[in-house]
Amino acid sequence: MSGNVAAIRDLSIRFDTQQGPVYPLRNVDVDVPRGQIVGIVGESGSGKSTLALALMRLLPGNAVVTGGEVELLGKDLLKLPAEEMRGLRGTRLAMIFQDPMTSLNPVRSIGQQMLDIQYRSPASRAEKIAKAADALKRVGIPDAREQLKRYPAEFSGGMRQRICIAMSLLQKPELLIADEITTALDVTLEAQVLHLLRELRAELKGSILFISHNLGAVAEICDRVVVLYAGEVVEQGPVFEIFDRPQHPYTRALVECDPARIETTTRELPVIPGDVPNLRSIPRSCIFAARCAEVMEVCRRDRPPPTVIGKGHSARCHLLEGVES
Ligand SMILES: Nc1ncnc2c1ncn2[C@@H]1O[C@H](COP(=O)(O)OP(=O)(O)O)[C@@H](O)[C@H]1O
Ligand SMILES: [Mg+2]
Repeated sequence: MSGNVAAIRDLSIRFDTQQGPVYPLRNVDVDVPRGQIVGIVGESGSGKSTLALALMRLLPGNAVVTGGEVELLGKDLLKLPAEEMRGLRGTRLAMIFQDPMTSLNPVRSIGQQMLDIQYRSPASRAEKIAKAADALKRVGIPDAREQLKRYPAEFSGGMRQRICIAMSLLQKPELLIADEITTALDVTLEAQVLHLLRELRAELKGSILFISHNLGAVAEICDRVVVLYAGEVVEQGPVFEIFDRPQHPYTRALVECDPARIETTTRELPVIPGDVPNLRSIPRSCIFAARCAEVMEVCRRDRPPPTVIGKGHSARCHLLEGVES
């Protein structure tokens, strides 16, 4: 395998609704190299969660993959038998959600759940409990042994998020998908969770797909950044390239809006004038044309293909065509 834990190629997804089809992801390419943290950044509705759920093969029932391929852990994800897919989830592949209650079982104690996820381990029950308590301690939960007896509802949102991270410490997945996990946390908690994720990456020797609309968080912990705009990857590259020499006008608008804001305290993406495209009728033009300050005639006519700007750095913009990489 190519050194990528996941490789998404030309992936397109459609949602069928009563009001007709919606096209949340179109021709998406994303590589997640082994051992790296890849950030997916985009406004609300840009398709971040849809991408995560596609990787987990947990898309809602009205979703149809209309094209593309996904290689995950050396396998063809879209053709993998359901049984084998279930086997991957929770072992080699794990996801933490924005709302930790989504993944925690409300009627089982934290300890029971932390034992459950070690069911494959040959260790004794006492050893598994010790491991669970240790994982809780690692994520900064004091009095861990006592906490194992408690139920998810007895913890605050921030604590529950840490419990989910502790569980992924026990699972040691090769790919951990974290979908907006710091969005509901205050700045201090967020900084702690980011620190934990970084440690986790070192410990797991795995990769993390870090989905966020917080540019500061992405700048802080990611190796690579993928910028999604209305269902399309408009730019992707190494984190320093994206923040130091962003090439797509959308990325530039995000990053250059106010450099001082690119720090962990940034809560939201900057507001860019104009309307986000309607995902029901996708224009044949560049997807950003209607909001782009540098729009040209060709942009309103043709959709730009990705242009390679540097090693592992590309963007979909007509301005870059013919520019030497
Ligand atoms: N099951 C669904 N049916 C129809 N539309 C959906 C469904 N799930 C998400 N969408 C739409 O797809 C788009 C992308 O959503 P999502 O992936 O959740 O974006 P993000 O996570 O970036 O906020 C949004 O316009 C959303 O309303
Ligand atoms: Mg989302």
